[in-house]
Amino acid sequence: MPEQKIKISPSLLACDFSRLGEEIRAIVTAGADMIHCDIMDGHFVPNITFGPPVVAKLRSHCSVPLDVHLMIERPEDYVENFVDAGADIITFQVEATRHPHRLIRRIQELGCKAGIVLNPGTPETAITYLADMVDMVLVMSVNPGFGGQAFIPEMLEKIAKIRAMIGERDLEVDGGIDENVAPAVVKAGANVLVAGSYIFSHHSYQEAVQLLKAAGNGRD
Ligand code: DX5
Ligand code: ZN
Repeated sequence: MPEQKIKISPSLLACDFSRLGEEIRAIVTAGADMIHCDIMDGHFVPNITFGPPVVAKLRSHCSVPLDVHLMIERPEDYVENFVDAGADIITFQVEATRHPHRLIRRIQELGCKAGIVLNPGTPETAITYLADMVDMVLVMSVNPGFGGQAFIPEMLEKIAKIRAMIGERDLEVDGGIDENVAPAVVKAGANVLVAGSYIFSHHSYQEAVQLLKAAGNGRD
């Protein structure tokens, strides 16, 4: 595969929510290519975060793309609200809907990019007939619901298989990404890295973002 620039999508889950506007500005200044918004409903995952009104406020505070990751049941009921709020790409969990094919089309018809997410236990074959439609595939490298979990190394093989399925489309990886695992994740085929706790606990957001971007430099 030709050299591709690595994009970094910091996950707000690990930021200081009491200073959301400041955190967004700092992370964009640090070089974030997108902002990863983790939407949790307390049903699909055992945690609750935020919804469309907060995404709409984020939209008015930054110009980089908003990468909205839905970890919710019945995502089809909410995509319109997230598009209206200003999402640039919406990814939903393939396990959360009976009609993923229909939902990809629906999101795209609404003028938004659509991506599909696989939990660690979901095989790549779950998206065989969706791979050519989506704008991005997101491989979860932890079980969704919480930040700060350890990267699951078995996901490297799945990342490589999905890269072989999707050609040049974006392949995002989310969960447990830091400067140590990022090179292997990129080598396996990822070109978009989500990182929450690594970036927001780093003394310099800019250095953290640069260290993750540098993960692509050693690729052969
Ligand atoms: C997990 C979320 C992730 C998470 C990543 O359910 O989808 O985006 O916030 O956090 P870290 O980078 O800390 O694993
Ligand atoms: Zn996420």
